[in-house]
Amino acid sequence: MATKKKKMILDLHKMKKEGQKVVWITSYDYPSAQFAEAAGVDMILVGDSLGMCVYGYESTVPVTMDQCIVHAEAVRRAAPNTFVVGDMPFMSYQTSNDDAVRNAGRFLKEADCDAIKLEGGKRIIPKVKAILDAGIVVCGHIGLTPQSSGQLGGHKAQGRTVESAEMLMEDAMALHEAGVQLLLLEAVPPEVGGAIAKMLPIPVYGIGAGMNTDGQLLIISDVIGQFQAFTPKFVKKYANVAEVVTNALKQYGEDVRSGDFPGEEHCYRMKKGEFEKFEELLKKYRK
Ligand code: KIV
Repeated sequence: MATKKKKMILDLHKMKKEGQKVVWITSYDYPSAQFAEAAGVDMILVGDSLGMCVYGYESTVPVTMDQCIVHAEAVRRAAPNTFVVGDMPFMSYQTSNDDAVRNAGRFLKEADCDAIKLEGGKRIIPKVKAILDAGIVVCGHIGLTPQSSGQLGGHKAQGRTVESAEMLMEDAMALHEAGVQLLLLEAVPPEVGGAIAKMLPIPVYGIGAGMNTDGQLLIISDVIGQFQAFTPKFVKKYANVAEVVTNALKQYGEDVRSGDFPGEEHCYRMKKGEFEKFEELLKKYRK
């Protein structure tokens, strides 16, 4: 199989100019990142959604930098030719510019990520600038920002009133002027997604931001039907892994209980002539 050519930030910018949509998916582990690379996705996000999709937390808030790094390392090993974005977890950048730079740098130094993503608009500009000054590619993330969903009154779509849409446009512009090279919009109306993608010269991707952005992100656990707790409106399920795996395990259980597993084909046999000698040996133990 021909090796996939890895897209870099300039390729992503070129794709926007040429009107080519970018395909972006989250991944948290080696097997799913291998599948993503084989499927030819353009970008992988090692999202802090791993807290809910992998660890079973109720939100992304408990996720730590160390957890993100371990998962990002596994993803990079599996997908050497895909643009990988590390997601800055809660309290890895809010505390100070120094923390922001140190933790963003860990994604590059320890996990060989190509960029980092962090949530927030105007209020995180000093952190964004500090990370950019360290030479790191930054992706902004505005709209529904799960780490601050408490302040937003829950996991609610944003930009549904003119006032809220204007705040998003201002945040998007402020991030662009600060120098972010990519922007993600989460859970906003398509008109707002399209307006921001048109307003900015950088690639603007959406997760639940409609069809007018420069590319789409989805969470792999939603796409393959693995995450069970809830399904956001913007998700399209392409498989039902939960059903496939549960049925496989039920069948395994039935086979073990009925004696149908293991079968002859699953057994190792003794080497030629050894079985007779083994029977002699057993006599000693039977006495
Ligand atoms: O962690 C994540 O997967 C994300 C997406 C929800 C945008 O940040």
